[in-house]
Amino acid sequence: MKKLLLAAVSIIALTAWARAADAPENWDKNCAACHAKDGKGATKAGRMAGVKDFADAAYQKTFTDDQAIASVKDGKKDDKGKEKMKPFAEKLTDDEIKALVAYVRTLAK
Ligand code: HEC
Repeated sequence: MKKLLLAAVSIIALTAWARAADAPENWDKNCAACHAKDGKGATKAGRMAGVKDFADAAYQKTFTDDQAIASVKDGKKDDKGKEKMKPFAEKLTDDEIKALVAYVRTLAK
């Protein structure tokens, strides 16, 4: 019984570790189409959506972590209400979104 419990605990610990490690993977899957792998946004979709350069430290200062988390969860619209970035609240967990925002911060040069 003890052994079984230990096995269960290590599986949970391993899964948590695996999830925490996959921000770059989530980035490539969900975000890079617009923001590009390096965060500079020089993709066709990125230019169309009007993304800005995450490598630019000055741009990174224009939003807080909390604002960034909210933007990723709820999406972003322009002044006319047209969607610029779709909401990811249904697709990604809170922890995944937090990890992605931390990842975005590492893209600043
Ligand atoms: C359809 C294209 C598109 C996709 C896909 C996309 N974004 Fe964005 N993102 C944008 C645009 C456009 C902006 C807004 C630029 C501006 O401020 O005008 C933006 C802004 C942001 C910001 C700045 C937040 C703020 O409050 O200004 C963050 C952080 C961000 N995106 C993260 C992500 C993450 C993480 C993903 C993947 C889960 C993602 N984006 C996917 C287009 C996209």
